[in-house]
Amino acid sequence: MPSPRKIIIDTDPGQDDAVAILLALASPEELELLGITAVAGNVPLALTHVNARKICEVAHKVDVPVYAGCDAPLKRALVTAEHVHGKTGLDGIDLPAPVMALQEMHAVDFIIHELRRHAPGSVTLCALGPLTNIATAFDRAPDIIGRVAEVVLMGGAYFEVGNITPAAEFNIYVDPDAAAIVFGSGVKLTVMPLDVTHKVLVDADRAEAFAALGSDTGKTVAAWTHFFERFDMEKYGSAGAPLHDPTVIAWLLKPDLFAGRFINVEIETQSELTLGMTVADWWGVTERPANATFIGDVDAAGFFELLTSRLARL
Ligand code: RIB
Ligand code: CA
Repeated sequence: MPSPRKIIIDTDPGQDDAVAILLALASPEELELLGITAVAGNVPLALTHVNARKICEVAHKVDVPVYAGCDAPLKRALVTAEHVHGKTGLDGIDLPAPVMALQEMHAVDFIIHELRRHAPGSVTLCALGPLTNIATAFDRAPDIIGRVAEVVLMGGAYFEVGNITPAAEFNIYVDPDAAAIVFGSGVKLTVMPLDVTHKVLVDADRAEAFAALGSDTGKTVAAWTHFFERFDMEKYGSAGAPLHDPTVIAWLLKPDLFAGRFINVEIETQSELTLGMTVADWWGVTERPANATFIGDVDAAGFFELLTSRLARL
């Protein structure tokens, strides 16, 4: 068995972020979680760093260091998504205030420190929210960009277009300037857009499988997904909640579940009409150089089999 891949999860919990973190925590043979860095997104930073610690405590993994990062996008005002995730960001079940402490170090300093401390190409950044922390780290310490093994992020859309505006997906829309820095950095980049995340829906059978785990974790995940499903069910008529962020972790565990193309993806940062749009050259109609593996398809049954079997470990 190869040694576990070192990862940092940058996140704005969010129920789907929470399931992604639990999946990572349930997979220590494959993933060594160096730390969790919270960013403002679904809800303000003051809640995301609390939520990150609540999630670790659901999994009884209280030794995972959690750091608070940027509380606002690089240039624009913060846009949040309480309409999707509820006022706490983890609505659906009441969880106690976390006991585990927040780390003193700023999340951006942690990201820089860890990338400089570990061997080049040994640390993967898993971005589950707006890219403010990661872009700030890249801007402050450009030397770390070449040391990153891979950035795997949930964000953007092409065929699915936007979920927060007609043109943009939420994570990219909240901080398009940060996204432009990351997509333009030259880092190895894998993107999980709405095109693939809208194919992993927690329908009734899958929700029942979570509840049937018979554990606090299973009950909590079922409650989270039952809460945040209504936004997509009302907007798209979806069969259930899309598990956006867990696709990032599933990619690291079983990449063969997914299919995509290595293409050029640029970020709209100027037009108010299409701000935050990921302009994905899926059909290769430009000469723009490819910069991202853009995922479009997934074996949904295999994804849920992986997720449910790993959650059963917690
Ligand atoms: O558009 C979906 C993304 O925005 C997910 O990461 C969700 O958690 C929210 O952050
Ligand atoms: Ca998220």
